[in-house]
Amino acid sequence: MDNKIIAFAGKGGVGKTSLSALTVKLLVEKFKDKKILAIDADPAVGLSTALGVNVTHTVNDVRLQFIDELKKPDRPSTIEILNEAHYELSDIMIDCGDFAFLAIGRPESAGCYCSINSFLKDIISELVSNFDYVVIDGEAGIEQVNRRVMEKVTDLILISDGSMKGLNVARSIDQVAKNLNMCNKSACIINRVSNPDVIEKIKADGLNIVGYIYEDQSIEMTDVEGKSLLSLDNKATAIEQLEKALKVAEVI
Ligand SMILES: Nc1ncnc2c1ncn2[C@@H]1O[C@H](COP(=O)(O)OP(=O)(O)OP(=O)(O)O)[C@@H](O)[C@H]1O
Ligand SMILES: [Mg+2]
Repeated sequence: MDNKIIAFAGKGGVGKTSLSALTVKLLVEKFKDKKILAIDADPAVGLSTALGVNVTHTVNDVRLQFIDELKKPDRPSTIEILNEAHYELSDIMIDCGDFAFLAIGRPESAGCYCSINSFLKDIISELVSNFDYVVIDGEAGIEQVNRRVMEKVTDLILISDGSMKGLNVARSIDQVAKNLNMCNKSACIINRVSNPDVIEKIKADGLNIVGYIYEDQSIEMTDVEGKSLLSLDNKATAIEQLEKALKVAEVI
C-alpha cells in the first residue's frame, strides 16, 4: 500500500506536537475511511496529551523486556522472542477509535542494542504498513526517528517560528535528512506568526515554505487547560492555515 508517513521536526518549542495533533485531527475528519496512526517519538510524550490518549506502555518497555529475555540462560529461541515482541508491540498500540496511537518512549540507555533496535524497527515498519497515514511527532531532529522508528519517511514537515535560529535548525535538519536519504520530500511551515508584516522579512531561503500559521490563542488555551487539541473548533485560524499548508505540501 502506498501510505504516507509524515514526520514533524524542528527546533524545541516551535509547535511540532501541536501541529502533529492537529494534522491527526484533520486526517481523521477528512478521511473517515482511512486508517490513521499517530506515533509519539518524543521521550517527553507530549502527543498523547495533545490527543487525549492515556499511555501505559511504550516501545521502549518492550525493548527492555526483550533485552532481559535475551540475557536469561534458559531463554526461549530468538524466533520465539521475536514473535513475542511482535505480539507485544501490536498490543501496546492503542485503539483510539478514529485512529491508533503508539508511543516510542525514552531512548536507549548506555550500551549498543543496534540489532534489537533494528528488529523493533522491522516490526514497526510492518505494523505501519497497515495504515494509510502515519503521523510522527519527533524530537528536534530526524535522526532519532530514523534510528528508533522508521528508516525513511515520505513527508518531512519542518516546523519553525520566524526566528533566525528556528529557520537555521529547520535548514540543517532538512540537509541531514536529504543527505542521508531519510525522506522522500520535505516542506516547511512557519508557525506562531504574530504579525503578518513579518512574513515578507522571514529569511527562509533554501526551505520549501508551504504555509504560515498565525499565533492562535485557542491553541494556547487548549494547552493551558490540558484539553485535547481534537476538541479545537474547526473554524480556528490555525486549523484552516494548517490544512492549506498540508495541501500545498501535497500531504493531504
Ligand atoms: N499557532 C500557535 N498559536 C499559539 N500557540 C501555539 C501555536 N503553536 C504552538 N503553540 C503553543 O506553543 C507551545 C509549544 O508548542 P508545542 O509543544 O507543540 O511545541 P514542540 O515543538 O512540540 O515543543 P517541544 O520541542 O518541547 O516538544 C505550546 O504551549 C503550544 O500551545
Ligand atoms: Mg513536542
